[in-house]
Amino acid sequence: MNKLIAPSILPSAFMNIESEIRMLEKAGADWVHCDIMDGHFVPNLTFGPPIIKKIRKITDLPLDVHLMITNPDETIDWYIDAGADWLSFHIEAAKNPETLLKHIRKRKVKAGLVIKPKTDVSEIKEFLPLCDYVLIMSVEPGFGGQSYISSADDKAIQLVKLKKDLKLPYLIQIDGGINLENIKRIAKLGVEVFVAGSAVFGSEEPIETIKKMKKLIL
Ligand code: DX5
Ligand code: ZN
Repeated sequence: MNKLIAPSILPSAFMNIESEIRMLEKAGADWVHCDIMDGHFVPNLTFGPPIIKKIRKITDLPLDVHLMITNPDETIDWYIDAGADWLSFHIEAAKNPETLLKHIRKRKVKAGLVIKPKTDVSEIKEFLPLCDYVLIMSVEPGFGGQSYISSADDKAIQLVKLKKDLKLPYLIQIDGGINLENIKRIAKLGVEVFVAGSAVFGSEEPIETIKKMKKLIL
């Protein structure tokens, strides 16, 4: 399959979100990655369903919503109603991952599970048949601009093997510290969806950066 770039709008010029989204469309970004932080599951705080709803209105790009919140079980419908196309939550936060994944899918949204750098792949193995994607955090969630944690490589390798052995269709996504220097190497491990925040929005020419990333993962 074609590998995908999902720029994170966390470091974008939020007051001009519409022009930032147009830029992503022009560059050929595949998804828009929305980082939802609640100040509890992670120390940082971002935005919630009302903003997702506004972004939904201005673009047809798939919205990939990454929930870094303590209570996904209680609030998942807010994000579905706001217009998420892909919706992931942390295994470390969910009370009942199986029910949540099934519920997201029942509502015709793609369901994903996220693991933090210190969480082992074995902790999500039983839920993989219910996942449309799995997100490997390659930094501690909460802040953009951190360096890639190399132990994420091993998780990617394990998830590629499990996908093959169990004959499952989930996509493997990675988030944190992805840049023009490391993206090609990580793509070769079998990762399919790349979130990039500061490497895109912190670059002089974000459009060119996205285009270069797309070429590097071909
Ligand atoms: C971190 C977020 C990431 C972040 C990535 O908690 O989940 O999506 O925005 O930012 P960079 O690409 O700067 O590491
Ligand atoms: Zn994210």
